[in-house]
Amino acid sequence: MTALLSADGLSKHFGGVIAVDAMSFEMAAGEMFAIIGPNGAGKSTCFNMLGGQLKPDSGRVSLAGEDITGMTSRALWGRGVGRAFQIAATFPSMTVCENLQVGLMRRYGRLWSILRSARKQYREEAEHLLRLVGLGEAADKLCGYLSYGDLKRVELALSLVNEPRLLLMDEPTAGMAPDERRALMDLVVRLARERECGVLFTEHDMDVVFGYADRILVMQSGRRIAEGPPDAIRDNRQVQAVYLGQDFSLEPVPGSVRGAA
Ligand SMILES: Nc1ncnc2c1ncn2[C@@H]1O[C@H](COP(=O)(O)OP(=O)(O)OP(=O)(O)O)[C@@H](O)[C@H]1O
Ligand SMILES: [Mg+2]
Repeated sequence: MTALLSADGLSKHFGGVIAVDAMSFEMAAGEMFAIIGPNGAGKSTCFNMLGGQLKPDSGRVSLAGEDITGMTSRALWGRGVGRAFQIAATFPSMTVCENLQVGLMRRYGRLWSILRSARKQYREEAEHLLRLVGLGEAADKLCGYLSYGDLKRVELALSLVNEPRLLLMDEPTAGMAPDERRALMDLVVRLARERECGVLFTEHDMDVVFGYADRILVMQSGRRIAEGPPDAIRDNRQVQAVYLGQDFSLEPVPGSVRGAA
């Protein structure tokens, strides 16, 4: 079976710093795949190479068998690669629904000059996406008045506009309260399963990583030091050494998909 995403020997250096050093991995459709590692390990650099923000020095990236190495984020967006919470900035003075409608207009190539009629266009599709992320009731609120957690839901809905096959999420729950984190990740995992969308994410919050990832890749100094299911990663001595002092004896998160299993 062809992998959804395949990275082969990806490398990137900044001057004398080798940020990512010959990284290879594969992930499947519908999979929650986490890349973790200490500060400066090279996670964001990896994401940026996969999401089109940085061109790799060497290596190859394939999406469902197609070579997408070095493509721009715009070209990748057209191929169903979404990047939640970074590209998708919202307009605070527009309503939640209008933000989604603008995203949909962008998707279907409509022009800004017809923005005046945006209130009507794609209203149903926008409402559908909002219901998916649990914001059906907030459609007519101004984005500027939303809580941080709800804003992230809007941004998640925006990243679904192009029906992504792959979602890249660099620290999706950063800055959120624990309850909001779980609610957002419950939603993400549900969308991943229902839509067969692969989710590649990185997190410093180990509750989130071990509660939601199907597989975890651990990086240190630009290199992979371990890869496997959460239990194997938790028991890995090299990983424990990297995270010395952190609690790896985490119980499954109550209420999460993994916790409920
Ligand atoms: N644009 C850049 N210019 C120079 N050096 C960079 C640049 N981006 C990253 N680096 C360096 O590359 C290495 C990897 O950084 P990166 O941001 O990918 O790590 P990270 O794993 O995402 O860290 P964090 O957990 O802090 O987000 C670090 O040494 C960093 O200082
Ligand atoms: Mg980073």
